[in-house]
Amino acid sequence: MRIMTCIEDLRRVARRKVPRAFFDYAEAGSYAQETLRANREDLEHIKLRQRVLVDVSQRDLTTTILGESVSLPLALAPIGLCGMMHGDGEILACRAAQAAGIPFTLSTMSICSIEDVAQAVDKPFWFQLYVMKDRGFIRALIERAAAAKCSALVLTLDLQVLGQRHCDIRNGMTVPPQIKLGNLIDIATKPAWALSILRGRRKTFGNLAGHVQGMGNVNSLAQWTANQFDPTLNWKDVEWVRSVWPGKLILKGILDVEDARIAAKAGASALVVSNHGGRQLDGALSSIAALPKVVEAVGDQIEVMFDGGIRSGQDVLRALARGARSCMIGRSYIYGLGAGGEAGVARAIEILGKELDVTMALCGVRNVRDIDPRVIAQA
Ligand SMILES: Cc1cc2nc3c(=O)[nH]c(=O)nc-3n(C[C@H](O)[C@H](O)[C@H](O)COP(=O)(O)O)c2cc1C
Repeated sequence: MRIMTCIEDLRRVARRKVPRAFFDYAEAGSYAQETLRANREDLEHIKLRQRVLVDVSQRDLTTTILGESVSLPLALAPIGLCGMMHGDGEILACRAAQAAGIPFTLSTMSICSIEDVAQAVDKPFWFQLYVMKDRGFIRALIERAAAAKCSALVLTLDLQVLGQRHCDIRNGMTVPPQIKLGNLIDIATKPAWALSILRGRRKTFGNLAGHVQGMGNVNSLAQWTANQFDPTLNWKDVEWVRSVWPGKLILKGILDVEDARIAAKAGASALVVSNHGGRQLDGALSSIAALPKVVEAVGDQIEVMFDGGIRSGQDVLRALARGARSCMIGRSYIYGLGAGGEAGVARAIEILGKELDVTMALCGVRNVRDIDPRVIAQA
């Protein structure tokens, strides 16, 4: 892992090690992938202000997220099928995050269940919720998260219908995930991956199996989502979730100022400015383009988090400079997971932390809490 110098290195190795259907699933955006690309391009367009002759010998990256102390302003985002990048992927990623001192978020659509992860780690993690039609099951899921002592509930708002990823159709991605004859040759060339999956505790959606109807049938991801997810989801349901979950609530998937204003009044502790990593509304603003207006509108009422396109510590600094209190990463850490399991995730977090540290120094900033718009260069 030492020779992995940047997130792109981890990505290249993950691409070699993980079967194509799962790597493509992780990598892709929806439709023409305009928003996926915009997430990266708009971050890269933000130029940083080089400052010199500031004593930066003492630097501090520690801060808090929702009152929790963290070693840097970062959390691992929820990733469906995380456990298909590497066997027991959710447990490994959670361990790496906790060892690094940052939060891990377990997806509803994870392979390891809430209970699997809770048993395997020492500290609380966050749980991400998708609201499905069967509210009895959703209530039970929230109660399972509470019983597992999850320290925050991340309610995802931007996936009630599924944006199409062309590769998932071409690669025959199904629910539950299935190894098909057509993929066997590919898998035969990925023995380390195959072994890790064989040894992993589960091969299907751990939180749903045995609870949700239709899990035994093989459906396309899109068809299954259409059957299970509830497109009637609205702000009244957020009130309902709020009433069932007494702990910290994070609303994920806000891009619009109007929505941010409503979210700020919904009794949540934080919101995440996010377009689901460019996987839902193609043609939407990049997350970084949407961020400043949301911060301006509600930043003094609710903690504003950010995700979408972060591949370096420079990107974290850019998002903080645009007003985010902290960031989530998705692909950056699952590339690490695919490349090297727990050590790969640990390396991804370490890379981002080191890059953020050096970038702060070169911008003349000593404390991560002092990052503000003044670090952005005006051409
Ligand atoms: C493979 C993959 C699976 C995802 N699954 C979920 C999910 O189950 N729940 C959710 O709220 N967001 C999900 N997301 C979105 C991420 O939580 C996050 O918003 C996004 O990855 C951020 O963009 P980035 O990958 O460029 O960092 C997923 C993203 C990817 C790439």
